[in-house]
Amino acid sequence: MSMEEINLQVYACRKCRLWQDAKHGVPGEGPLNATVMFVGQNPGADEDEQGRPFVGRAGKYLTKTLAEFGIKREDVYITNIVKHTSPQNRKPYPDEVEACLPYLSEQIGIIKPKIIVLLGASAKDTPRVEGIQYFEVIHPSAAMRFTKMRQRFRDQIAELAKKIS
Ligand code: URA
Repeated sequence: MSMEEINLQVYACRKCRLWQDAKHGVPGEGPLNATVMFVGQNPGADEDEQGRPFVGRAGKYLTKTLAEFGIKREDVYITNIVKHTSPQNRKPYPDEVEACLPYLSEQIGIIKPKIIVLLGASAKDTPRVEGIQYFEVIHPSAAMRFTKMRQRFRDQIAELAKKIS
């Protein structure tokens, strides 16, 4: 499958209940030859509105922090483990994650990144592929809220920048 086909399938996806309260499926964005891929939980309200991942407050914070350590957002592929928003931004249920995972598997297969950055605990179900490094970091929305986590998050992004330099 091509990325375009995946995107079209995500826009039209009815494999779980989440599409019912969503405006847009949010497949992900970034160059298909990206070395680094970011995986978050699922789109929030801003992402649902725009059909793009990580464009709300947490996304802006992520983009800014990456830039501070020399990583350009345009160079990385950003997506989520679940491609639709959820009511009140609740954590996706296991059956929703399961229904959505094939899209992420296909995306990983196309991009073949060197590193997959897992943003927060919800991204931990990301399929593991041999030869790819997985790097768990604090979710940017938690980092934004708590001072201690902010420093830890910055240290983690600094470590990521080192890995890819
Ligand atoms: N938080 C996420 O986990 N994903 C998004 O796309 C936006 C906020």
